[in-house]
Amino acid sequence: MSPLPADLPPVDTRRVDAREKVTGAARYATDLLPDDLAYAVPATATVGRGRITELDTSAAAAIPGVLLVLTHLDHLDLQSPGFVMGGGYGVQSLQPLLDDQIAYRGQTIALVVAETLIAATQAANLVRAVYEPEPFAVTLDSPGVERLSQPATIPLPFLADLDVGDAESAYAAAPVRVDAVYDQPAQHQNPMELIGATVWWHGDSLVVHEGTQNAAAIRHGLARQLGIDPDHVEVVSPYTGGGFGQKNSLQIHIAPLAVAARRLGRPVKLVVSRTQLFHHTSFRPASRHRIRLGADEHGRMLAALHDVEHQTSRFDLFPLMYTETTARLYGIGDFRGRQTFARMDTQTPGFMRAPFEHPGVFAFESAVDELAYAARRDPLEFRLANDTTVDPVTGEPFSSRHLAQCLRRGAKRFGWSARQHQPASMRADDGSLVGWGVAVGAYPASIVPSAAHLVATADGRIRVEVDGHEMGQGIRSSIALLVAENLGIDVRHVDIVVGDTRVATQHLTAGSWGTASTLGAVHAALRELRKQLGAEINGPVDVTAAVAATGGDHVEVRAETLGPGQTEQDAEHARQGLVALSGPEFTGYSSFSWIAHFVEVHVEPTTCRIRVPRVVSVADCGRVASPVTAASQVRGGIVWGIGASLREAGEVDPRYGGWLNASLEEYSVPVNADIGTLDVDFIGEPDLRFHPVGVKGLGEVSMVGVAAAVANAVYHATGVRHRRLPIRIEDVLAGSTGSSR
Ligand code: MOS
Repeated sequence: MSPLPADLPPVDTRRVDAREKVTGAARYATDLLPDDLAYAVPATATVGRGRITELDTSAAAAIPGVLLVLTHLDHLDLQSPGFVMGGGYGVQSLQPLLDDQIAYRGQTIALVVAETLIAATQAANLVRAVYEPEPFAVTLDSPGVERLSQPATIPLPFLADLDVGDAESAYAAAPVRVDAVYDQPAQHQNPMELIGATVWWHGDSLVVHEGTQNAAAIRHGLARQLGIDPDHVEVVSPYTGGGFGQKNSLQIHIAPLAVAARRLGRPVKLVVSRTQLFHHTSFRPASRHRIRLGADEHGRMLAALHDVEHQTSRFDLFPLMYTETTARLYGIGDFRGRQTFARMDTQTPGFMRAPFEHPGVFAFESAVDELAYAARRDPLEFRLANDTTVDPVTGEPFSSRHLAQCLRRGAKRFGWSARQHQPASMRADDGSLVGWGVAVGAYPASIVPSAAHLVATADGRIRVEVDGHEMGQGIRSSIALLVAENLGIDVRHVDIVVGDTRVATQHLTAGSWGTASTLGAVHAALRELRKQLGAEINGPVDVTAAVAATGGDHVEVRAETLGPGQTEQDAEHARQGLVALSGPEFTGYSSFSWIAHFVEVHVEPTTCRIRVPRVVSVADCGRVASPVTAASQVRGGIVWGIGASLREAGEVDPRYGGWLNASLEEYSVPVNADIGTLDVDFIGEPDLRFHPVGVKGLGEVSMVGVAAAVANAVYHATGVRHRRLPIRIEDVLAGSTGSSR
C-alpha cells in the first residue's frame, strides 16, 4: 500500500484501502499490461445442446494479428478440474474445448488469441460452427427436466432431509394454515470487475492474476488440469472487484489461457465480456418453494414444511441448503424440509450472495406474513411471539441470537407503532398507497482453517500476510483495525497481503466466514507476537523499541487456526485447495447471524409503480469488526434485496436456450434513483462462544429477508400477495399473484 497523507478522517471511520481504490492505484488482475501481451476472446455455441459437426476457423485465423485459434481439434490435453461442490476446484466439472459436445448455449467453442483485443474480437465473431442440435430444457417448467431427490442422490449428512418432530401431523391439526408456492428466477451477479485473467509462464511455473475468492482452488485446480505440480502455480489476487460467489472457484478460461500462453511463449489476457459473463460462469439457480405453515389460535407457530427444488446442470449437482436456515428462524417444534434437484441444460449454477438464504427466506418470511394475517396478528408481534433461544433443529442453544432485539430496535427506528394493520389503508402525502413490511433473516456462521504471518519491523510497522481475499467487503480494514487496536498503533502502520498463494494457503473466502476465519488467525498471531516482543497480554506496545530490544531488525511469527472442532484433516484439506468448512452446528451450540428489515413502499395506484423510499435494518453479527465497511455491507445487501424483489431476473427463451437479457441494459438492477434512505444499525454484542474476538459473519445475512420485507410491504400497500419475484408493475396492475405469469 502506498503511504497515506496525515489529514484523513479518524482511522476507525474509513476503509483502509479506499484511497487506492478511488485513485485507481489498486491494480486488478486484468489491469496488468506485461510486455508482449496477447489478447484472448472466446467464441461461443449458438445451440441449446448438441454436437459440433463442422468447425471452420479459417476466416478467424486470416485476420491480421491473430496468433492462435484453440478449439477441441487442437487436443488441449486438459483434465477436468472437478466441480467445487463435488470435491474438485472448478465452477463446473465441464471443461469446454475438449470435445465436440455442446452441453448448453453459450459454451465456449474456440479461444482466439491475437496481438490486439480488436483483432481477437473480430476473429472470434468469424468462427463458424455447424451443429447437430438436440432437445434441451432450460426452465423449471420445460419438458425434459430431470428431478432427483437430494438425499437419494448425495447421501451426505449436511444435505439430508430435515425432519424435526412430525410436521405433517402438526400441520394437519393446526387451526390456522397457509399453503403457498413461491417462485424465484435465475439471477446473475454482474460484478463491476468482469471475470478475467492475465497469465504467463515463468520457466516451468505458471503465474495467474485473476480476481478471485479462492486463489487456492485456482492453484490446485490448474495443477490438476495441466498435470503439473501445485508448487509451480502462483496465483495473485490482491483485489477482487466484487465476488458474490461468482468468483469462488477455478473458471473455465484459465487452463486454455495457460495453454495459449505456453504455445505462444508470451503473456495472455482475457476479459470475459458482460454478455458472455451470463453464459460463462455460475449464477443463482431458479428455485421454487412450497411452504406450509400452521399456527394455533393464539398465534403460536406449530408446524412448517418447506419443499424446494432448484435448477442444476446435467453434469454437476449444485446442492440445496435452503432449509438449514429457514428451520432456524423461529421456535417451530415440527419442521420438515425436502430438497430436489432439477437438472437442465445450462452451465452449472452456483453460489450467489446468500445463495440459499435469500430465496429460502423470501418464501418462508412471505408465508409467515400470510400466516400472521390469517391469524389476525400484527406481523411484528407475530414474529416476536415465535422467537426462540434454542436451536429447534438440534435442541442446543445458539451461541448468540439477538434477533428479538433487532426487531424491537428496528421497529422503534422505523416507527412501526404508527402502522395500520389493514392492507391498502395507508396513503402518502402525494396520494400513493403506502405499505410497511417486516421480515427477518439469518445466515449460518461458519469458519475455515486460516494462517497468518506477522512481521514487526524496527520502523514500527506490522506486515500481515494472511489467508483471505479482499473483494470489497473490507477484510483489509478489519485486519488493520484489529492489529492497530491490539498493539495500540496507527492503522496506517499495518501493511496487509491477502489473496496471494505465495504467502498463505488462500482458502476460499465465501459464506460470510472470511472475517471470522482471518481475524482468528491474526488474533492468534498477535498473541504470539506479543510474547516474542516481551509485551504484556494486553495494552499498547512500542513496536520500534520492542523490536530493537530483541537485537534484530524484525520479529516474525506464524499462527495457524482451525474452526471449533476442526482437526488436522481439515487443515490438510485446506492445503489441498479444498473447502474445509465448519459450522453452523458445533459441539454444544449452533451459530447464526441475524437481521431484521423494515421496508416502506409507495405504490402509485394508477400506474402501479413501486418505490422504496426507506429501509431500516438492524443486524446481529457479533462484534462489528470494521464499522464503516460493515455498514456498507448492509447497505449493499439491502440494495441486492430491492433488486431481487423488484428488478432482477435472468430471462431464458425455452425455444433457443441461453440467457436473453445478457447485458446491464436488459438485466435490470437498482440504480441510485431506486434507492431511498437506508438506515443501518448493529446490536454489536460480541459472540465469544463462537469466536475469540467475538465476530460472526455479516456480508450475506445483510440481504436475507429484504425481498420478503419488500413483498410484505407491497401486500400491505395493495392487499395483493405476490409470490413470484421480481414483482413487476404488470403483476401489480393485474392484481395478480404472479403465479399465472
Ligand atoms: Mo458467497 S455467495 O458464499 O461468495
